[in-house]
Amino acid sequence: MLIGENTDGAGLVRDLLFNLKATIQGQRVLILGAGGATRGILGPLLDLKPAELCIANRSPERAYVLTHLFADLGPVRAATLAELAGSHWDLILNATSASLSGEVPQLSAALLSPGCLCYDLAYGTGPTAFMRWAGSHGAARTASGLGMLIEQAAEAFQIWRGVRPDTAPVRALLMQELHE
Ligand SMILES: NC(=O)c1ccc[n+]([C@@H]2O[C@H](COP(=O)([O-])OP(=O)(O)OC[C@H]3O[C@@H](n4cnc5c(N)ncnc54)[C@H](OP(=O)(O)O)[C@@H]3O)[C@@H](O)[C@H]2O)c1
Repeated sequence: MLIGENTDGAGLVRDLLFNLKATIQGQRVLILGAGGATRGILGPLLDLKPAELCIANRSPERAYVLTHLFADLGPVRAATLAELAGSHWDLILNATSASLSGEVPQLSAALLSPGCLCYDLAYGTGPTAFMRWAGSHGAARTASGLGMLIEQAAEAFQIWRGVRPDTAPVRALLMQELHE
Protein backbone atom coordinates (compact mmCIF):
# COMPACT_ATOMS: atom_id res chain seq x y z
CA MET A 1 0.00 0.00 0.00
CA LEU A 2 1.26 3.49 -0.86
CA ILE A 3 0.43 6.48 1.34
CA GLY A 4 1.16 10.05 0.24
CA GLU A 5 1.07 13.29 2.20
CA ASN A 6 1.42 16.93 1.16
CA THR A 7 2.49 19.19 4.01
CA ASP A 8 2.72 22.43 2.00
CA GLY A 9 -0.80 23.59 2.87
CA ALA A 10 -0.48 22.81 6.56
CA GLY A 11 2.89 24.57 6.61
CA LEU A 12 1.52 27.66 4.88
CA VAL A 13 -1.50 27.87 7.16
CA ARG A 14 0.69 27.47 10.24
CA ASP A 15 2.97 30.27 9.05
CA LEU A 16 0.04 32.56 8.28
CA LEU A 17 -1.94 31.94 11.46
CA PHE A 18 0.72 31.41 14.12
CA ASN A 19 3.81 33.26 12.91
CA LEU A 20 2.21 36.13 11.03
CA LYS A 21 -1.00 36.29 13.13
CA ALA A 22 -3.06 36.58 9.94
CA THR A 23 -6.75 35.70 9.64
CA ILE A 24 -8.21 33.60 6.83
CA GLN A 25 -11.78 33.13 8.01
CA GLY A 26 -14.08 35.65 6.33
CA GLN A 27 -11.24 37.15 4.30
CA ARG A 28 -10.95 37.59 0.56
CA VAL A 29 -8.01 35.53 -0.63
CA LEU A 30 -6.38 35.73 -4.06
CA ILE A 31 -3.94 33.06 -5.23
CA LEU A 32 -1.72 33.86 -8.20
CA GLY A 33 -0.62 30.74 -10.06
CA ALA A 34 -2.19 27.34 -10.65
CA GLY A 35 0.70 24.91 -10.42
CA GLY A 36 1.63 22.24 -7.91
CA ALA A 37 1.98 24.66 -5.00
CA THR A 38 -1.53 26.04 -5.48
CA ARG A 39 -2.96 22.55 -5.68
CA GLY A 40 -1.31 21.71 -2.36
CA ILE A 41 -2.55 24.75 -0.43
CA LEU A 42 -6.16 24.98 -1.66
CA GLY A 43 -7.66 22.39 0.69
CA PRO A 44 -6.13 23.71 3.94
CA LEU A 45 -7.00 27.31 2.97
CA LEU A 46 -10.64 26.44 2.16
CA ASP A 47 -10.88 24.55 5.49
CA LEU A 48 -10.38 27.94 7.19
CA LYS A 49 -13.51 29.34 5.52
CA PRO A 50 -12.38 32.42 3.60
CA ALA A 51 -15.22 34.60 2.33
CA GLU A 52 -13.91 33.99 -1.16
CA LEU A 53 -10.89 32.33 -2.72
CA CYS A 54 -9.95 33.23 -6.27
CA ILE A 55 -7.25 31.64 -8.41
CA ALA A 56 -5.76 33.75 -11.18
CA ASN A 57 -3.22 32.27 -13.53
CA ARG A 58 -1.33 33.40 -16.62
CA SER A 59 -2.77 30.32 -18.36
CA PRO A 60 -6.41 30.58 -17.18
CA GLU A 61 -7.44 27.02 -18.07
CA ARG A 62 -5.19 25.61 -15.32
CA ALA A 63 -6.99 27.76 -12.74
CA TYR A 64 -10.39 26.55 -13.96
CA VAL A 65 -9.29 22.91 -13.64
CA LEU A 66 -8.32 23.49 -9.99
CA THR A 67 -11.59 25.22 -9.13
CA HIS A 68 -13.53 22.25 -10.46
CA LEU A 69 -11.41 19.87 -8.39
CA PHE A 70 -11.87 21.83 -5.14
CA ALA A 71 -15.37 23.32 -5.60
CA ASP A 72 -16.89 20.98 -3.00
CA LEU A 73 -14.64 22.38 -0.28
CA GLY A 74 -15.70 26.02 -0.37
CA PRO A 75 -16.16 29.26 -2.31
CA VAL A 76 -13.38 28.93 -4.87
CA ARG A 77 -13.46 30.50 -8.32
CA ALA A 78 -11.06 31.27 -11.13
CA ALA A 79 -10.43 34.52 -12.94
CA THR A 80 -8.08 35.81 -15.57
CA LEU A 81 -5.72 38.56 -14.49
CA ALA A 82 -7.84 40.98 -16.56
CA GLU A 83 -11.06 39.86 -14.84
CA LEU A 84 -9.59 40.81 -11.46
CA ALA A 85 -10.04 44.51 -12.28
CA GLY A 86 -12.19 46.22 -9.65
CA SER A 87 -11.75 43.52 -7.00
CA HIS A 88 -9.93 43.92 -3.68
CA TRP A 89 -8.14 41.28 -1.63
CA ASP A 90 -7.14 40.97 2.03
CA LEU A 91 -4.54 38.29 1.38
CA ILE A 92 -2.66 37.81 -1.90
CA LEU A 93 -0.58 34.65 -2.18
CA ASN A 94 1.93 34.58 -5.00
CA ALA A 95 2.14 30.89 -5.86
CA THR A 96 3.70 31.52 -9.26
CA SER A 97 7.36 30.79 -9.79
CA ALA A 98 7.87 34.29 -11.24
CA SER A 99 9.95 35.53 -8.30
CA LEU A 100 12.51 32.81 -8.97
CA SER A 101 13.47 34.72 -12.12
CA GLY A 102 13.00 38.16 -10.57
CA GLU A 103 9.65 38.73 -12.31
CA VAL A 104 6.25 39.80 -10.96
CA PRO A 105 2.85 38.75 -12.40
CA GLN A 106 1.04 41.57 -14.24
CA LEU A 107 -1.01 43.01 -11.37
CA SER A 108 -2.73 46.26 -10.55
CA ALA A 109 -1.99 47.86 -7.18
CA ALA A 110 -5.74 48.54 -6.94
CA LEU A 111 -6.21 44.85 -6.01
CA LEU A 112 -4.71 45.44 -2.56
CA SER A 113 -7.22 46.16 0.22
CA PRO A 114 -6.10 48.41 3.05
CA GLY A 115 -4.30 46.04 5.44
CA CYS A 116 -3.51 43.58 2.63
CA LEU A 117 -0.91 40.92 3.39
CA CYS A 118 1.09 39.95 0.30
CA TYR A 119 2.76 36.58 0.76
CA ASP A 120 5.20 35.11 -1.74
CA LEU A 121 5.55 31.33 -1.52
CA ALA A 122 9.00 31.82 -3.03
CA TYR A 123 11.89 32.82 -0.79
CA GLY A 124 15.50 33.81 -1.17
CA THR A 125 18.13 36.10 0.22
CA GLY A 126 16.23 39.27 1.00
CA PRO A 127 12.73 40.26 -0.17
CA THR A 128 11.50 38.59 -3.37
CA ALA A 129 10.49 40.54 -6.49
CA PHE A 130 6.81 40.17 -5.54
CA MET A 131 7.47 41.38 -1.99
CA ARG A 132 9.31 44.42 -3.30
CA TRP A 133 6.49 45.15 -5.76
CA ALA A 134 3.84 44.78 -3.04
CA GLY A 135 5.77 46.87 -0.54
CA SER A 136 6.08 49.72 -3.02
CA HIS A 137 2.39 49.50 -4.03
CA GLY A 138 0.72 49.86 -0.64
CA ALA A 139 0.74 46.39 0.94
CA ALA A 140 0.42 46.65 4.71
CA ARG A 141 2.66 43.60 5.15
CA THR A 142 4.75 41.29 3.02
CA ALA A 143 6.25 37.89 3.77
CA SER A 144 8.24 35.24 1.94
CA GLY A 145 7.63 31.49 1.88
CA LEU A 146 10.58 30.81 4.16
CA GLY A 147 8.20 30.34 7.08
CA MET A 148 6.08 27.96 5.00
CA LEU A 149 9.17 25.96 4.07
CA ILE A 150 10.14 25.56 7.72
CA GLU A 151 6.62 24.77 8.92
CA GLN A 152 5.96 22.21 6.17
CA ALA A 153 9.21 20.48 7.10
CA ALA A 154 8.09 20.36 10.74
CA GLU A 155 4.77 18.86 9.64
CA ALA A 156 6.63 16.19 7.65
CA PHE A 157 8.91 15.46 10.60
CA GLN A 158 5.84 14.96 12.79
CA ILE A 159 4.31 12.51 10.30
CA TRP A 160 7.49 10.43 10.22
CA ARG A 161 8.64 10.73 13.83
CA GLY A 162 5.53 11.65 15.84
CA VAL A 163 7.14 14.78 17.26
CA ARG A 164 6.68 18.35 16.03
CA PRO A 165 9.97 20.28 16.26
CA ASP A 166 10.03 23.78 17.72
CA THR A 167 10.32 25.91 14.58
CA ALA A 168 10.91 29.29 16.24
CA PRO A 169 14.72 28.97 16.63
CA VAL A 170 15.07 27.54 13.11
CA ARG A 171 13.07 30.43 11.71
CA ALA A 172 15.10 33.02 13.63
CA LEU A 173 18.42 31.54 12.49
CA LEU A 174 17.43 31.24 8.83
CA MET A 175 15.89 34.73 8.78
CA GLN A 176 19.11 36.13 10.19
CA GLU A 177 21.30 34.26 7.71
CA LEU A 178 19.17 34.95 4.61
CA HIS A 179 18.15 38.54 5.28
CA GLU A 180 21.27 39.98 6.85
N1 LIG B 1 7.74 27.96 0.60
C1 LIG B 1 7.53 26.69 0.29
O1 LIG B 1 7.62 25.79 1.13
C2 LIG B 1 7.14 26.34 -1.12
C3 LIG B 1 6.56 25.09 -1.41
C4 LIG B 1 6.19 24.82 -2.75
C5 LIG B 1 6.40 25.78 -3.74
N2 LIG B 1 6.97 26.96 -3.41
C6 LIG B 1 7.16 28.01 -4.44
O2 LIG B 1 5.92 28.20 -5.11
C7 LIG B 1 6.17 28.62 -6.45
C8 LIG B 1 5.36 27.77 -7.41
O3 LIG B 1 5.79 26.43 -7.35
P1 LIG B 1 5.01 25.28 -8.17
O4 LIG B 1 5.58 24.00 -7.73
O5 LIG B 1 3.55 25.49 -8.08
O6 LIG B 1 5.48 25.59 -9.67
P2 LIG B 1 4.75 25.11 -11.01
O7 LIG B 1 3.91 23.91 -10.76
O8 LIG B 1 5.84 25.04 -12.02
O9 LIG B 1 3.76 26.32 -11.38
C9 LIG B 1 4.30 27.57 -11.69
C10 LIG B 1 3.18 28.59 -11.77
O10 LIG B 1 3.77 29.89 -11.92
C11 LIG B 1 3.22 30.53 -13.08
N3 LIG B 1 4.26 31.41 -13.62
C12 LIG B 1 5.56 31.10 -13.86
N4 LIG B 1 6.23 32.18 -14.29
C13 LIG B 1 5.33 33.21 -14.33
C14 LIG B 1 5.41 34.58 -14.69
N5 LIG B 1 6.57 35.13 -15.12
N6 LIG B 1 4.30 35.35 -14.58
C15 LIG B 1 3.14 34.81 -14.16
N7 LIG B 1 2.99 33.50 -13.79
C16 LIG B 1 4.09 32.71 -13.89
C17 LIG B 1 2.80 29.39 -13.98
O11 LIG B 1 1.83 29.86 -14.87
P3 LIG B 1 1.45 29.05 -16.20
O12 LIG B 1 0.51 27.96 -15.78
O13 LIG B 1 0.81 30.08 -17.07
O14 LIG B 1 2.74 28.51 -16.78
C18 LIG B 1 2.24 28.41 -12.95
O15 LIG B 1 0.94 28.77 -12.54
C19 LIG B 1 7.69 28.54 -6.65
O16 LIG B 1 8.24 29.83 -6.46
C20 LIG B 1 8.15 27.62 -5.52
O17 LIG B 1 9.48 27.88 -5.13
C21 LIG B 1 7.32 27.26 -2.13
